[in-house]
Amino acid sequence: MTDTAAFSTAALSARVSATRHFDFGAMAADERYRLLASTVMPRPIAWVVTADADGVVNAAPYSFFNVFGGDRPVVALGILARPGRPKDTAANIRATGEFVVNLVPFALAEAMNQTCVDAPPEVDETALAGLETVPSLAVRPPRIAASPVGFECRLTHLLETGPGQLLAVGEVLHAHYARHVLTGDPDRPRVDAAALDLVGRMHGASAYTRTRDLFDLDRPHWQGGRAIPSKAIPSKE
Ligand SMILES: Cc1cc2nc3c(=O)[nH]c(=O)nc-3n(C[C@H](O)[C@H](O)[C@H](O)COP(=O)(O)O)c2cc1C
Repeated sequence: MTDTAAFSTAALSARVSATRHFDFGAMAADERYRLLASTVMPRPIAWVVTADADGVVNAAPYSFFNVFGGDRPVVALGILARPGRPKDTAANIRATGEFVVNLVPFALAEAMNQTCVDAPPEVDETALAGLETVPSLAVRPPRIAASPVGFECRLTHLLETGPGQLLAVGEVLHAHYARHVLTGDPDRPRVDAAALDLVGRMHGASAYTRTRDLFDLDRPHWQGGRAIPSKAIPSKE
């Protein structure tokens, strides 16, 4: 892999020597969004369930999503502004400080897509999409029963990153995994990526990818004043 990588990085540098520059300060917000969201991909999808102060449930997908640490275990969502009224997810998280992130396997992609509809706040999109829910342990919003992974989250930071645009950081209090996506030693289980079969968001409004095209890279280690592949370090066993 190392020789090929060295060859291809030189070839790629030559190809990108002619670049086009975008001055984001001079662009319309929707154009900036279109460019960024079609470039930073694939993105994992958080299928977010929240509840308002009266307990009315809401579900919607959010692909400005990732995990940002293990200690504390935090995830974050990027919630865009909506003209007129904030997105229900934003309003509910602000009101209650709670949300549940469900992950989206290929088999649930269409159901996930149904829940992105811009429905009024009183509409429960889990019911709209015919989804069963399961009560959470520590937060009021339930999780989606068919999703293989659910994270119960409590808001730790709510940052306004633009007019009405939010970054919601939450601590994962409880994680629920379907047994079929876990393998190995039950005391230190591994997640079976193939069994999980998650989808990711790609460019444009409707493009997705599956997470099946895998390859491995051996991580380099610094030893004796140079980087060497970890495979070259004699095993201690
Ligand atoms: C796959 C997918 C990913 C999405 N990701 C985001 C996102 O990261 N941020 C956002 O503001 N809207 C995102 N949306 C749009 C919201 O799901 C949509 O605005 C929805 O109506 C919001 O619902 P709510 O008002 O119930 O929260 C996404 C839509 C889809 C289909």
